[in-house]
Parts: sequence; C-alpha cells; structure tokens
Amino acid sequence: MRHKYSDYMHWSKTYSRAQFNLATSGVAHFPLCELPIDLKELEINGEDSYGYAPLQQAIAAHHGVDPDCVVEAAGTSMANHLAMAAIVESSDEVLIERPAYGPILDVARYLEVEVRRFERAVENGWAIDPADLRRCVTSKTRLIVITNLHNPTSVLTPETILLEIGDFARSVGARVLVDEVYLDAVYEGTPRTSFHLGPEFIVTSSLTKVYGVSGLRCGWILAEPDLAWKMRRLNDLYSATPVFAGELLSVAAFKHLDVLREKARRIVDADRKLLREFLKQQSALSAVETEWGTTSFPRLVNGNGDAFLARLRTEFETSVVPGRFFEMPNHFRIGMGVNREMFGEGLNRISRALIHG
Ligand SMILES: Cc1ncc(COP(=O)(O)O)c(C=O)c1O
Repeated sequence: MRHKYSDYMHWSKTYSRAQFNLATSGVAHFPLCELPIDLKELEINGEDSYGYAPLQQAIAAHHGVDPDCVVEAAGTSMANHLAMAAIVESSDEVLIERPAYGPILDVARYLEVEVRRFERAVENGWAIDPADLRRCVTSKTRLIVITNLHNPTSVLTPETILLEIGDFARSVGARVLVDEVYLDAVYEGTPRTSFHLGPEFIVTSSLTKVYGVSGLRCGWILAEPDLAWKMRRLNDLYSATPVFAGELLSVAAFKHLDVLREKARRIVDADRKLLREFLKQQSALSAVETEWGTTSFPRLVNGNGDAFLARLRTEFETSVVPGRFFEMPNHFRIGMGVNREMFGEGLNRISRALIHG
C-alpha cells in the first residue's frame, strides 16, 4: 500500500495543544489589525493563474532572485511536496537527514522513492558530516533533502558545507532541496538563501514560521526557470490557483516584513534566555544550544520519553513534541516565540515533572 498520511501532522492538528503549549515551531500570531493595510483594497478575485505577479516579485526581491524562479505554493508543506514530486520518479533514491521533519519523509514515501538516510549526530552538535553524507550518495541518488535551520534542533548549516553537498549532488546528477522555513530566524547576519549556491539547489520556504502569519499559507519554491515551470504545471493537479485574497494580504505582509519579524524576535530572544537558564539547572536533560531558531531538542538523560511526556501533559498541562516523531524517543522538541509567560511556566512545569519523575 502506498503511504498516504502523516502521523506527525495528525498529532499536531489533533493532540498538540495544551494550556502550556511548547509544542510549537512558529512564532505568535501577528494580528490583522496591526498590519497597516486598507481593507477596502482587499479583493476576492484577480489575475493569478500561475501566481500573482506582485507577490512573485515580493518573494523574488526578498531573496534577490528572478521572479521566473519563484513558484507560489500553499505553505512550505505544499512547496516541499511539489518540489520533490517534480524532481523524482518512483524508485529513485532520495537522501534525507536524520532526525528529519516527519512530513518530508512522508512525502518521499508517498512518492514511492527509495529513502536513504544520513545522520546528524548529537555528538557532532547535530551538524551534517559531509563525509558521512558522501558515503550515502549513489549513482541512483536524485535528491538530497535537508532543513536549514534544522528542524528539530535549529542548528545552522554553513555555506561551506552546503557547497560540499552541492558538489556531491552534481557529481551524480542529483539536486539538493533545502527547506529554509526557519532561516530568517537567524536575526543577525542572516545567511542568503542557498539557492544562490548553484543550479543544483532548490529552496522551499514560507511566511508561516518566523513572521506569525501562518494562516496566509504563503509559501514558495525557488528553482531554475524550467524546473519552476514544471512545478507550476504539476500544481495544476493539486490546487489550480492560489487564494487571491491571501495573495493580497501576503503582499501587504511582505511590505512590512521587518515589523513582523522584529515583533516575533523580542519573544524568541526572551524565551531563549529562559531556556538557557532552565537547561543550566537540569541535570536530567542534555541539549545542544543554538544561537538562533525557534526550537530546541533536549534529551532525557535517563528514562522513557513517551511516559514522561504523557505525565507532563496529564499532570502538568504542558505539551512538547515527542521525539518519536523524529525517530528519537528519548528527546522532545520545545518551541519558542509565542508567549514569554506561557513559555516560562511551561519550563517550570517540565522542571517539576522531572523532579517527580
Ligand atoms: C522544516 C519544516 N518544513 C515545513 C513545515 C511546514 O510549514 P508550512 O506551515 O509553511 O506548511 C514545517 C512545519 O513545522 C517545518 O518544520
């Protein structure tokens, strides 16, 4: 049977919420009333057959690329699906990092490709080890998929390593798909998109995580014009045209992107401070700390992750993402950037649950 579901996405939609919800990955919602727009200019219908030109231009300007390279998509989710589906054929090999964001694996399985994995080892600070990745590349490899920042750990992969990965891909005629949905959470010295690193790079991203406007579902792919066109044609099978009102609001969001980003940054920075202090005091947890990003992926030094998290939820009304969704059951993912008070109290409750463990 073909794989047709995502356990993580189902859990996230039906079970992730709690009074103290640290199972997030995106920042607090940015309210419409704070976006300086004239709602009279909003419209329902307009010309957007293969994308709304002003939105394509805004995305292209944000990344310094040609608008012909921009493919609109419903969030990074659809962007990843379209990108992968346009590139691979069933039985091609696709190389995916471990730990990985579950739906990326689910899409690969749905497409019936051969999934191979390369490790991001905790002992190596979750960094990609190019030598290990090289060993996994074969003549059948069509695509290498990574997230940057990495979900769940928020570790940043530097350009030097990305260039090496690009070389491996080129040597076998493969491409590199980099999901950069968290990259703009590097608030200082934000790296340019890896799309600029060479023709083998394809990038996906959206406004859903770092900017607080996930409801707009404003996502995109950056790809060479021929491949971009193939993806637009493929999208004809899925969602025909985008939601025009959403595109208008997304253009407005792009005009004020700095305001959206700074608002979220204040909360992310405050939460990271709390997280650092918390981790210093927790001998029952070990974690690779990062300078940027909205998530952290600590490990329970002793014990069973699922049992601990079940108790954390029922007795302490606190939710985090179980490590089993990243194939690492003794880890869990904590999300920053929603609400400092809630985050602080959630951490307190994790402390108490650890003491009573
Ligand atoms: C790495 C990664 N890619 C894609 C997505 C999906 O994002 P979107 O809401 O833009 O579809 C997520 C959501 O958590 C994610 O973590």
